Amino acid sequence: MEFNNLLLSFEGEIGILTVNRPRALNALNRETLREIQEAIKEVQNHREAKVLIATGAGAKAFVAGADISEMKGMTCTEALDFSRLGHRTLKMIEDLDRPVLAAVNGFALGGGTELALACDFIYASDNARFGFPEVTLGIFPGFGGTQRLPRLIGKGKAKELIMTGKMIGGQEALSLGIVNRIFPQASLMEEVKKAASQIAGNGPVAVRMAKRIIDTGFNMELSEACSLESYAFSIGFATDDQKEGMTAFVEKRKPNYQGK
Ligand code: CAA
Repeated sequence: MEFNNLLLSFEGEIGILTVNRPRALNALNRETLREIQEAIKEVQNHREAKVLIATGAGAKAFVAGADISEMKGMTCTEALDFSRLGHRTLKMIEDLDRPVLAAVNGFALGGGTELALACDFIYASDNARFGFPEVTLGIFPGFGGTQRLPRLIGKGKAKELIMTGKMIGGQEALSLGIVNRIFPQASLMEEVKKAASQIAGNGPVAVRMAKRIIDTGFNMELSEACSLESYAFSIGFATDDQKEGMTAFVEKRKPNYQGK
């Protein structure tokens, strides 16, 4: 499918979704959000892809937020629809049955940080800038920032970022636990692809189940979540991947997973 604001490509087992509106620093307007939904459906149907990388076009921005020129004239009901559109889009990323890695290559502000937070984890370039400048515009985050950020870094730190609207660099994002690793910009994609390939080489069903159980169990009471893990763990033993993985170990060879 052709997109106006995105690039979607596949390199073997890795899908790459690039938000491509560099003249607006890849800001998310309605059309871009709808296109991301279509792209996620396409990835869903592309079974060969084991991991998706989300990034932004150009060397300056990942995504500089929701599109301010489009939001400027919105009524309350339009803003509600826009926020829900953003939530549905990010939830599709979160719910994709494969890992999604964010490669944050510059500004990730407002909706940009929110998009990255909907991914499974974030690698960033050394020039990345994160933040929630919404309050400086007289609004507050509307694509999940008030909810995903405190769950990731704790309420106090999330409130500080959201209430001050300040931008932070990659190192601070790393120390807050927003970002997993930082790389020089020139090697970011190579490093993210390395991690993606490592994941793609593992049992696909196991990776998919691990994502689901971590996400589902995260907001559950611990003993219930552990019980859920036990049942899901046992189901793993009904897969060909489990048989292949353990047989390969015993036979001292590389496993050849079929994702079944
Ligand atoms: N929406 C629409 N256009 C944007 C944009 C955005 N979020 N961010 C940047 N742009 C546009 C600029 O308007 C500019 O366009 P023109 O060349 O046509 O004037 C172009 O991208 C380049 O931007 P700048 O000239 O501003 O570049 P800079 O290097 O001077 O500054 C920046 C970079 C600090 C990121 C600055 O662009 C900026 O502050 N952008 C807005 C960031 C922001 O507030 N994001 C949050 C949006 S609200 C939100 O996301 C709500 C939500 O939770 C859903």
